[in-house]
Amino acid sequence: MIDTLYGSISDGAIGVFDSGVGGLTCVKELIRLMPNEDIIYLGDTARVPYGTRSRATIARYARQDIAFMEKHNVKLLLVACGTVSSVMASEPIFEGTNITCYSGVIIPAADAACEATRNKKIGVIATPATIRSGCYEYEINRQRPDISVYSKACPLLVPLAENGYTAPGCQPAEFFVREYLSPLKEQGVDTLIMGCTHYPLFEDVMREFMGEGVTLISSSGVTAQQTYDALKAQKALKPASHKAKIELFCTDSVQLFKENVTRFVGGDIDCEISQCSLS
Ligand code: DGL
Repeated sequence: MIDTLYGSISDGAIGVFDSGVGGLTCVKELIRLMPNEDIIYLGDTARVPYGTRSRATIARYARQDIAFMEKHNVKLLLVACGTVSSVMASEPIFEGTNITCYSGVIIPAADAACEATRNKKIGVIATPATIRSGCYEYEINRQRPDISVYSKACPLLVPLAENGYTAPGCQPAEFFVREYLSPLKEQGVDTLIMGCTHYPLFEDVMREFMGEGVTLISSSGVTAQQTYDALKAQKALKPASHKAKIELFCTDSVQLFKENVTRFVGGDIDCEISQCSLS
């Protein structure tokens, strides 16, 4: 697991990276919780998706993403990609880097789900690579062996999200949410982890399908919340007088990226967008 390690936090921006645009759902929450923080985001849009690639390739990409972040003044790095967070389970990918504070999305989401469940049945939806890694079962049962975990890979939700098929009433979104979530609903889960950072876009459709009795946990949202708590505890938040600078980097066309920025952040934000190269 890319663990959660909040060493002593210095000054700088919050770094966030993802295989593409999904991690922007985490940026959305970071801005909501901490409007004065500087944020540097990297989306590897030229090589997304990571979720269908081999472990060796994901490891190589993740190291390049981290190397990019090392060149910036980052006080804390969030791996806002469920796939990297889970597939790099036991890899010491921060060793030898200058990144000393970091978190993936698995532990914050697993913690929140263990806290939320009442009937001890947790559902997990994520990319095929995350589900294959077994990381949620591992982390939840490490804390709470009495909880049953039911997992389902949802490979088609990422392309649907990136093409705007996410709202209630949208037939493809409703069809695939029903298709993927039915087995978890049948098991009677009372808590559902959205373990891929693209999935918060389907929150309304999923809530409607699962019913009000099921708690939805956004891995992006709870990771942003944990980051806020850590910065606050260490008195490392920027003062209210600080005007936040938000820089977004992508590895493919800025024009193509821009459409999804609005979609995933939920509106227009004051930011600079640039293309970068990782090799
Ligand atoms: N946002 C990525 C994740 O959380 C999904 C996209 C991908 O497969 O790279 O896993």
